[in-house]
Amino acid sequence: MTVVIGSDHAGYQMKEGIKTLLEQEGHRVIDVGTEGASSVDYPDFGFKAAQLVSKGDAERGILICGTGVGMSVVANKVKGIRASLVHDLYTAIQSRKHLDANILVLGARVTGTGLAEEIVKAWFNTPFEGGRHGERVEKIKKWELEHLK
Ligand code: RB5
Repeated sequence: MTVVIGSDHAGYQMKEGIKTLLEQEGHRVIDVGTEGASSVDYPDFGFKAAQLVSKGDAERGILICGTGVGMSVVANKVKGIRASLVHDLYTAIQSRKHLDANILVLGARVTGTGLAEEIVKAWFNTPFEGGRHGERVEKIKKWELEHLK
């Protein structure tokens, strides 16, 4: 799967580790930055990654900042994005099963590296259940078509 990954300075180290994990798991990774620990603005990287998913240039995305809140606000502004801010395995699994989340957001100052890696694995290995959950996601898509440019 083609996966875009992005972070700000707070998420940089975690991004590098997760990028390696994704490549080991056979994914093609597009890294939109940031490229170091110098302070940057999370919207610059969040919008870039979310737009690649929105346009279909990447099937899924991973975004990381300090809390995950900033990146999830940014990603969910972009049409077609269902970004889930995840700090635990249960939410990781449910966000795929029930929401068909296409961007996973992590908070590097909240979640430890080991748990973050388990979250990533679970998130990629859990399929969307569809059914009544599909009908709910369709309502989100319909609202976007009617209200967003
Ligand atoms: C950066 O200091 C921090 O504000 C950012 O990484 C993130 O936590 C925002 O939600």
